[in-house]
Amino acid sequence: MSEPMIPAADAQASLEAALKGEILRMYEEVAEQPNGDFHFFHGRAAAELFDYDPELLDRAPPSAVASFAGVGNPHLRSELKPGETVLDLGSGAGLDGIIASWQVGPTGTVIGVDLNPAMCMRAKANAGASGTQLECREGRMEDLPLDDESVDVVISNGVINLSFQKRKVVRELFRVLKPGGRIAVTDIVSAKQLSQSIVNDPKLWAS
Ligand SMILES: C[S@@+](CC[C@H](N)C(=O)[O-])C[C@H]1O[C@@H](n2cnc3c(N)ncnc32)[C@H](O)[C@@H]1O
Repeated sequence: MSEPMIPAADAQASLEAALKGEILRMYEEVAEQPNGDFHFFHGRAAAELFDYDPELLDRAPPSAVASFAGVGNPHLRSELKPGETVLDLGSGAGLDGIIASWQVGPTGTVIGVDLNPAMCMRAKANAGASGTQLECREGRMEDLPLDDESVDVVISNGVINLSFQKRKVVRELFRVLKPGGRIAVTDIVSAKQLSQSIVNDPKLWAS
């Protein structure tokens, strides 16, 4: 079996830049045109498939539900408690952050972090419509805009797979977690090495 080719540094930098552009474009498109044709599950149908509580989906702002682009349900394991501080890594249009806000209540805090400032604005608007306070910080999961040992729980849904630097992301999660903190992540993993033509295709990676 042949080893995957590791791209040279400049080739990797241009691939990363192309990936970032594709990520910005694709998730904005899901947020702006949720009824469009995408080759991944999204919206209410996806949330129901992943066992989100229909009552919570009815209660959440329709635009947060329509733009949901997660790959699973981190709330099934997060066991959030009132008063906790939660980081929603790659918070997108905000559905998971809003659900987390209801769980931690008025004494808790939910901080979203997203690469895309437009997604942060959308998440904050959706949170406002849901009657919750969701802080959203523009930033990269590889270099989180949070202090050391500042959060009780990290939730994330379909985001870490998008990074070129997954070890760095995991290190960042452990840096910002308080001792004894928890991580509830749903994401995509491949059981086998992907072909180089897939790895080098920003469109496929971004989705
Ligand atoms: C698949 S969507 C998931 C959004 C949300 N968790 C949900 O379930 O709807 C991926 C989100 O991660 C954000 N993202 C992608 N790469 C990122 C990075 N390096 N740092 C922070 N956010 C990133 C994208 O802008 C997008 O909003």
